[in-house]
Amino acid sequence: MTLSAPRPAVADPARAFGHSSDLSPAAGEFAAAVRAGLMHAPQKELPSKYLYDEVGSALFEVITVLPEYGVTRAEERLLTRYAPEIVEALPSDVKVAELGSGSGRKTRRILEALCRKRPTSYCPIEISRTALQLCRRELADIERISIVGYERDYLAGLSEVSRQRKRGEQLLVLFLGSTIGNFARLAATRFLRDIRAMLRPGDTLLLGTDLVKPVGTLIAAYDDAIGATAAFNLNLLSRINRELDADFDLRDFEHVARFNADVRSIEMHLRARRDVRAGVRAAGLTVEIGAGETIWTESSHKYHADEIPAIAADAGFECARQWVEKEWGFAESLLAVR
Ligand code: AVI
Repeated sequence: MTLSAPRPAVADPARAFGHSSDLSPAAGEFAAAVRAGLMHAPQKELPSKYLYDEVGSALFEVITVLPEYGVTRAEERLLTRYAPEIVEALPSDVKVAELGSGSGRKTRRILEALCRKRPTSYCPIEISRTALQLCRRELADIERISIVGYERDYLAGLSEVSRQRKRGEQLLVLFLGSTIGNFARLAATRFLRDIRAMLRPGDTLLLGTDLVKPVGTLIAAYDDAIGATAAFNLNLLSRINRELDADFDLRDFEHVARFNADVRSIEMHLRARRDVRAGVRAAGLTVEIGAGETIWTESSHKYHADEIPAIAADAGFECARQWVEKEWGFAESLLAVR
């Protein structure tokens, strides 16, 4: 593939409407991230967490049921089959904190198995209020469950749940769906360390990771035939248009999924079909993107099952058990605080 030389983004305070204090703190943070990412040279980038506005979250739910995207079904098969065994491996009195619950569908099996043994409190932690509402609706019918949602980022939410637990209560942290794969490799270990710092002996972390598989399978999973993943990716520009008063024409961009063999990750990019010049008024920015140039929007790292224990050890955990789904290639690892 030929890429043209990256074009600059020009900070243009005159374009910013009013003062930055016109924006809510969340919008201000989004504007700052877009500005920094589009000015980043030589590779323009946007943080993948911004893919999940209301439209993006709905599109992601569609992705999870696509025939090409086996990640969610593989994890559901694992959790359906092994939830009783996973629960047997846990201390008797656990409180559950889930980082990024999404709709809550994948967590149902674990919660049902826990609530069969004893009443269980479940704390989904999500930055999206819509996801928290969905998750409560999805799981409220489980007998003997109490659900308290935390509308926070992962670490702030986990620290609160950990501090508020009762005496003798151990935490089970769920980090499912291979969201860890969306962190760069070193950042993933750092994030696990941050989680570890909030836990105590006896606490556990159940970590879902998508495994390395043939490149063709991966490309199809991230560039599906009906274009759901393309829409998910393009929606990021449309979100910038809506929330930051920008004027990207979505027809100027196409979705690209490519495998980066050096770090074993699938990268999503938005590639300009022609030279583009766009304003992002709320970020005080005019950006020029050359034909063929890309904006990097997400990485999804793939792991070997046997590298998880070493990563866990590096972060202060011991890999106590691991369950592997071989049909698609997905691992669930139970990490215990060392
Ligand atoms: C949320 N995360 C684990 C998904 C993944 O597979 O990396 C996000 C996704 N991006 C495109 N398709 C799915």
